[in-house]
Amino acid sequence: MIYNEMINEFGFIKEKPNSNVNLTEEIRRIKKEKNAIICAHFYQTDEIQEIADYIGDSLKLAQIAENNTADIIVLAGVHFMAETAKILAPHKKVLIPDLNAGCSLADSCPYDDFKTFKDAHPDHIVISYVNTTAAIKTLTDVVCTSSNAEQIVNSFPKSQNIIFGPDRNLGRYISQKLNREMLIWDGACSVHEKFSLEKILQLKQEYPNAKILAHPECTQAVLMISDYIGSTSNMLEYSKKDSANEFIVVTESGILFKMREASPSKTFIPAPPNDSTCACNDCEFMKLITLEKLYTTLKYELPEIILSNEIIEQAKKPIIRMLEISKQHGL
Ligand code: 13P
Ligand code: SF4
Repeated sequence: MIYNEMINEFGFIKEKPNSNVNLTEEIRRIKKEKNAIICAHFYQTDEIQEIADYIGDSLKLAQIAENNTADIIVLAGVHFMAETAKILAPHKKVLIPDLNAGCSLADSCPYDDFKTFKDAHPDHIVISYVNTTAAIKTLTDVVCTSSNAEQIVNSFPKSQNIIFGPDRNLGRYISQKLNREMLIWDGACSVHEKFSLEKILQLKQEYPNAKILAHPECTQAVLMISDYIGSTSNMLEYSKKDSANEFIVVTESGILFKMREASPSKTFIPAPPNDSTCACNDCEFMKLITLEKLYTTLKYELPEIILSNEIIEQAKKPIIRMLEISKQHGL
């Protein structure tokens, strides 16, 4: 089967499943037959989260890739997550249902520019958020996610100079929280920077008892009015344990599926973006993954993540270092 013949210019398999195919049944059958697992991020649609074997934040998805007995990993998420899985499990086949499921934050950190920046500061070590390409990870000393960024930064003595990239909001948040200066790359996530402070404050007037939960990729203004700041999995845990009954959730709306499932008696209100009348804010890249594409991906074992051995070897070191530090902290 020739790779390019099967995949269209939009990065996914051309063939549309027959309308009489029961997609969920077929996905379950093929998964079992091929010893495949579906790992989904919290920002995936409800129907994909329902059929996934594992659902998690970026850290958990990496940990699963490292520790499982499947022959095939289908990453229902974005490209850097699938690359991370391939780096950690190079002998497995890692598939992503749409090659164009990228990430605006990863795109805000081009390799050549970042290398020039790094080379200009040879006395700095590099901590990179996992939302980067495999190439950026080869320039990195330790990777971090929003779940462990604090612990990763703290693993270096205060005297150590740090370049933190690419997310300026997460970088500033961690730098202020730990009272530690860092050289921060000026990148951002287009989804999280789009939340409207004004509309969140309006929602707060409508729901005065609601707690505001925000992802650290949000702007400083949004983080300042939030009751809790954390990764997707940390926000989910907080919403389960906290005594509040109403939450305004300032991150991609996919996370509401698990929040509502875990706490059916609580009310979860998605925060809106500033540039549309939509009530919630979706990541266009995450939402490229559909049940149909998941089915054709499993059926044809395409599109596959291919990385050179050299990239895998170099990018693996900072990811493994992150996983080790996380383990030391029980994460
Ligand atoms: P988490 O690691 O918190 O799930 O975040 C991933 C991400 O892409 C946020 O936009
Ligand atoms: Fe990237 Fe933002 Fe989408 Fe997360 S929400 S995958 S950071 S574009």
